[in-house]
Amino acid sequence: MINAFLRHLRTDGLRGTLAALIDFSQHLWRRWADASFDRRYGTDTQGITDDMTELGVFTEHRLNAFGYEGIQIPVFQKMLRELKLDPSEYAFVDFGSGKGRALMMAAEYGFARTYGVEFSPVLHEIAQKNIAIFGQRNPRACPIELRLQDAMEFSIPDENLVCFFYNPFDDKVMRQVVGNIADSYARHPRKLAVAYRNPLCAELFDNLGFLQLVSSTHRYHIYKSR
Ligand SMILES: C[S@@+](CC[C@H](N)C(=O)[O-])C[C@H]1O[C@@H](n2cnc3c(N)ncnc32)[C@H](O)[C@@H]1O
Repeated sequence: MINAFLRHLRTDGLRGTLAALIDFSQHLWRRWADASFDRRYGTDTQGITDDMTELGVFTEHRLNAFGYEGIQIPVFQKMLRELKLDPSEYAFVDFGSGKGRALMMAAEYGFARTYGVEFSPVLHEIAQKNIAIFGQRNPRACPIELRLQDAMEFSIPDENLVCFFYNPFDDKVMRQVVGNIADSYARHPRKLAVAYRNPLCAELFDNLGFLQLVSSTHRYHIYKSR
């Protein structure tokens, strides 16, 4: 450790070494914060992988998916606050729900119900176990429904909705999902919000006339119906 520090100091100077140290401590803090949910509930929502074979996904859209990583807890808390709505009036849908971290946090936040759509059978099974553990610890939390299916096939509930995306797929799949949301809204105009982390396909939402961008950073976009 001391040797690595001295090596850094020789190659990058004091300023560079301090910047690297700050970077490293921020990384450690983020990992510690992200593990806090699992420490509290005894769940398993950690890990990062983009190996679709390991995740048991062999369907057409495996090539359009970006892999698994649980949502960063401080970022998700900020996104929930930025929505500026009463969660008890809304259902929450996580498109690409992985191990269920966002779903359980949304249930804790007070949504009326939550739906998770995930196409990896491996992650779906882990999410089922997590939600059972979470439910025992939180008997008053809202219902959490898990669907093992492609997000393109998920039928959009006609309740007030918060649609959450954490960079699950590319524009090919997103285009169809956004079309499904728009059709559902046209059939049942209602309160609808979108919270999109890593908004790589943001223009698809920007172009929906019934939504307006109410908050945006390089990390996320929040849209709400007009
Ligand atoms: C970055 S992870 C986010 C996990 C979770 N939403 C969270 O925030 O903790 C994206 C997830 O989307 C899933 N995914 C990707 N393409 C999908 C598709 N077409 N249908 C359903 N799930 C998909 C992946 O398997 C992965 O679990």
